[in-house]
Amino acid sequence: MEQILQTTYLWLKAGHVIFVIFWMAGLFMLPRYYVYHQESEPGSAEEARWIDREAKLRKIILTPSIIAVWLFGIALATTMDLWSQPWLHAKLLFVLGLSGYHGWLAAYGKKLARGERTLSGKQLRLLNEIPGLAAAVIVVLVIVRPF
Ligand code: HEM
Repeated sequence: MEQILQTTYLWLKAGHVIFVIFWMAGLFMLPRYYVYHQESEPGSAEEARWIDREAKLRKIILTPSIIAVWLFGIALATTMDLWSQPWLHAKLLFVLGLSGYHGWLAAYGKKLARGERTLSGKQLRLLNEIPGLAAAVIVVLVIVRPF
């Protein structure tokens, strides 16, 4: 029984980390695409290509990855009975923030596709720092477990 639990835990953790990598890669790429998109001529063929690339990145990488990260994470916490751990609560706070950022990015992409360019390239580049900072805090919380 102990052996089965240990093997399940390791496979769940591997799945979790794999999809964390995909999710983070998508979160780093999408605002970059938006910067290039905003540099294209409104209504041009180049703009249409960026709209298509952004939609594919969201549909093929970002949406499946966020779902898988959450499902594997919840399964890990349940299998290892970790729900009462303070470091997990702190981690979840940052993960919720990151999930909110994801939702906001997806909504901004839909606005861009309608021709509404409300942020500057500089603002988008600054926003791109969010996932890196959040990932650093989350990894420290889950590996160092400071509390
Ligand atoms: C979506 C909600 C999430 C939940 C519920 C969750 C939960 C968990 C749990 C319970 C573990 C196992 C901890 C252990 O046994 O040591 C774990 C491992 C891990 N998580 Fe998450 N996690 C989530 C999202 C994330 C995100 C967004 C990142 C990174 C940006 C991340 C990075 C990691 C890493 C690197 C590990 C492996 C730590 C180790 O080697 O022990 N997780 N996660």
